[in-house]
Amino acid sequence: MLSEHDLRSALERAGLEAPVRFDEVTRSTQETALALAEAGAPQWSLVAAAHQTAGRGRSGRAWIDQPGRALMFSFLLRPDLVPERGGLLTLLAGSALADSVRSVAGVAAGCKWPNDLLVEGGKVAGILAGSQASGDRFEHVVIGVGVNLDPPPGVPGAAGLGDCDEAELLAEFLVSFRSGYERPEGIIDAYRAVCVTLGEDVRATTTDGRTVEGRAVDIDETGSLIVETEEGRKAVRSAEVVHLRR
Ligand code: BTN
Repeated sequence: MLSEHDLRSALERAGLEAPVRFDEVTRSTQETALALAEAGAPQWSLVAAAHQTAGRGRSGRAWIDQPGRALMFSFLLRPDLVPERGGLLTLLAGSALADSVRSVAGVAAGCKWPNDLLVEGGKVAGILAGSQASGDRFEHVVIGVGVNLDPPPGVPGAAGLGDCDEAELLAEFLVSFRSGYERPEGIIDAYRAVCVTLGEDVRATTTDGRTVEGRAVDIDETGSLIVETEEGRKAVRSAEVVHLRR
């Protein structure tokens, strides 16, 4: 199990210093980090837990963990970025996670657009972003990451990494994320390199209920998925994607 010392060391490895908090059991690290953000906590504040009782997933879904067998953390950013470009931060988190899982767990992990991490087709991790904007600037962005060591029971499609050094994985993730955060011009290329959705036939259901079906061919500079459909190329900005079998 992680400790606050591990969280401080992970930040230090990434050249960062910020408040940390570790709870053995919490409702949700995302909930805690968002409350800290509202209360004025500084950038890179980091919250982690060994078990969540009300873990949050994308699209209002729950994130279920196997207690003590998942790495779960949320951290706070105060980016100098227009909100339209906020999606880049989840893509950056995806590529940083793929890289750190590959180097620490030694498995070939890839990102299913926009932010699921797959190993051999199973979902081992998910990324969630929550934010507050004021005018054309972010007040804060909170990135939440959940990585299964063991898959939680009863969650279709979930997979686990198996035994892995959680402190090392967290540190490698933060090193990689921080490096990309300081060089945002490289985010899309780094994401393209680990994105397993590219080249797949997909069905994307957008948040406004449209369906786009075709071959995923690129990620554009805003982080949208470009899908080649029978009616031509379409950019999908915010959607749930299914990889279709050919
Ligand atoms: C998803 O795949 O739907 C996103 C899952 C994100 C889960 C992480 S676990 C740490 C942080 N706290 C939460 O409540 N959710 C995120």
